[in-house]
Amino acid sequence: MGKNGKEPALDVEELEKIFGTFTAVDKVSFTVDKGEVFALIGPNGAGKSTIIKMLTTLVPPTSGTAKVAGYDVVKQSTEVRKNIGYIPQLVSSDGALTARENLLLSARLYGVPRLEQEERIREALDFMGLGQFSDRLVSSYSGGMIRRLEIAQSMLHRPSVIFMDEPTVGLDPVARKAVWDHVRELRGKYRMTIILTTHYMDEVEELCDRMALIHYGQIVAVDTPAKLKEGIGKGATLDDVFSKYMSNFEENSEGGNYSEVRRNRRSIASRS
Ligand SMILES: Nc1ncnc2c1ncn2[C@@H]1O[C@H](COP(=O)(O)OP(=O)(O)OP(=O)(O)O)[C@@H](O)[C@H]1O
Ligand SMILES: [Mg+2]
Repeated sequence: MGKNGKEPALDVEELEKIFGTFTAVDKVSFTVDKGEVFALIGPNGAGKSTIIKMLTTLVPPTSGTAKVAGYDVVKQSTEVRKNIGYIPQLVSSDGALTARENLLLSARLYGVPRLEQEERIREALDFMGLGQFSDRLVSSYSGGMIRRLEIAQSMLHRPSVIFMDEPTVGLDPVARKAVWDHVRELRGKYRMTIILTTHYMDEVEELCDRMALIHYGQIVAVDTPAKLKEGIGKGATLDDVFSKYMSNFEENSEGGNYSEVRRNRRSIASRS
């Protein structure tokens, strides 16, 4: 149960993932209330995507439990899938199709009733500001338009929880702001709960109600950005918060940078 006595959107207890002998996620526990925008923050390899993959039923946990929209990710995975949207870290829309065709595929995948498909697709295209580009091939879209299309794809079946893994990576400042505006509207208009990961602290500041700091697979802090800054001292920024909790990060940052560069290049390559 959440703090307000209502069932939370997310209830995660001692969730663990071990790959071989490597513990990627080390018994994390947290809850997210309905309608919250919640960020997972941490260096490359911290375990953010693995947490999201367990919560979206794509990767089975080694131990622990997680309920999403009231359903258990292992025992009720079908119900979980019906109630979530997922935007993966790498580009997921198909460049050889138009936006409308991509949306039609998602509508079928998510089981949107046939008679409602056209209306929902039009609504999602308009909501994400893509109406006039709907019949263009996605390979001609900018990175920001692709991300907006992927958000449109993830909301077609009106999920109550949307997971976004680095929704704004590689986007210019204008495109990032457009994504932020749409995330806020998803919460405001459709009362969706949004879980996102990001490496941008301004994004957390602008968008997120609470954040969890992840380090070597563990949650080292969870709170509002304001409270976490207060805890560091007067005038502290979220960058200061990050540095304090990730004090061992520096020694690993070279590997991290490499993987970030590689990831960016991979996602750029798959767009062209
Ligand atoms: N399928 C897998 N098999 C083995 N190891 C894995 C697998 N998936 C992830 N890992 C490892 O688990 C750790 C956490 O990876 P994860 O992708 O969750 O990190 P992340 O926090 O999302 O990082 P980034 O910021 O780079 O996206 C990494 O060390 C990664 O190499
Ligand atoms: Mg990741």
